[in-house]
Amino acid sequence: MRACRREPVPYTPVWLMRQAGRYMREYREVREKTTFLELCKNPALAAEVTVTAVERLGVDAAIIFADILLILEPLGIELEFAKGEGPVIHNPVRRPADVDRLRELQDPGELHFVYEAIRQTRSALKPDIPLIGFCGAPFTLASYMTEGGGSKNYVHTKQLMYDDKGAWHAMMALISRALIKYLNAQIEAGAQVVQLFDSWVGCLSPDDYREFVLPHTKSVIENVTPGVPVIHFGTGTATLLELMREAGGDVIGLDWRVRLDEGWRRLGHDVAVMGNLDPVVLFAKRDVLRERTKQILDQAEGRPGHIFNLGHGILPETPVENVIALVEIIHDGF
Ligand code: CP3
Repeated sequence: MRACRREPVPYTPVWLMRQAGRYMREYREVREKTTFLELCKNPALAAEVTVTAVERLGVDAAIIFADILLILEPLGIELEFAKGEGPVIHNPVRRPADVDRLRELQDPGELHFVYEAIRQTRSALKPDIPLIGFCGAPFTLASYMTEGGGSKNYVHTKQLMYDDKGAWHAMMALISRALIKYLNAQIEAGAQVVQLFDSWVGCLSPDDYREFVLPHTKSVIENVTPGVPVIHFGTGTATLLELMREAGGDVIGLDWRVRLDEGWRRLGHDVAVMGNLDPVVLFAKRDVLRERTKQILDQAEGRPGHIFNLGHGILPETPVENVIALVEIIHDGF
């Protein structure tokens, strides 16, 4: 929490995106008994996997176990996590008429299981471990809604954006209104920090980001409950950092494609940063892991406002002992 506010800290805090996931035996054991969506909708199990990851790894923050796509169901999107394929959306938004049939998130209570998981996690966590709530950023959610799943070239997304600006902005505004309610309900339930994941925004040019994304992300961040730090994360964003900064956030997430010192300088040292180890370094030998970790800490120069993280989520095959070693290396310092 102090690092989010750029206050001095005794050591660099660390947590890892996707820290509760398939690379961990404990998670796989829970998942054997339920589907992924059932797990997300079961507060006791979601709290269990959230807390287990924190205790196993010794990290300095918890992130609530959920998924950025859960909010799509109450908006009228039919979501499935197909085995081995990732998310599949059965009724993608491709035309203006599809935008018209989207539902407004009337009552954030439709996602009650997330808030209940937050309450249970908060009471199970040690008091000094902050709990991070999260959502997908408007663009990344819009990309899933239009593509119907993951994508390489974002053809459907950009086609709607270029050909029908009115429909695009209406969809982004509807998503944004829903996210504001959702994040603030997470905060009311006990989330102390919130993160926006704009995982796929790096497919856009800076001009397109400014016109089609920035106003919407900005409105979400501006409307988060005052006093709660916001982490604004994206990948492939080396050419978008100044614009992401303009959209807002107390902490900006950096991926490994940009040097941490250069990224921070461009953002300005009056904002905190999070990052930015390449997740694949966790597959390398221990001395490489140490060396790469040191390089990032050296680039931060002990300046207040650095939260150590990966540049993107942990990969499913990552050896858990390397993740534990990473946390120890950071806490021990150099
Ligand atoms: O970080 C955490 O520990 C909290 C849990 C979390 C999950 N998803 C659990 C999950 C978080 C923060 C997310 C965010 C999320 N979900 C993002 C943004 C982060 C990123 O990596 O860019 C995205 C793009 C999604 C959408 C999503 N969910 C995809 C593309 C997939 C399938 C691909 C994959 O990795 O399997 C998921 C499924 C998912 N979300 C799993 C987990 C643990 C795996 C599901 C399983 O158990 O089979």
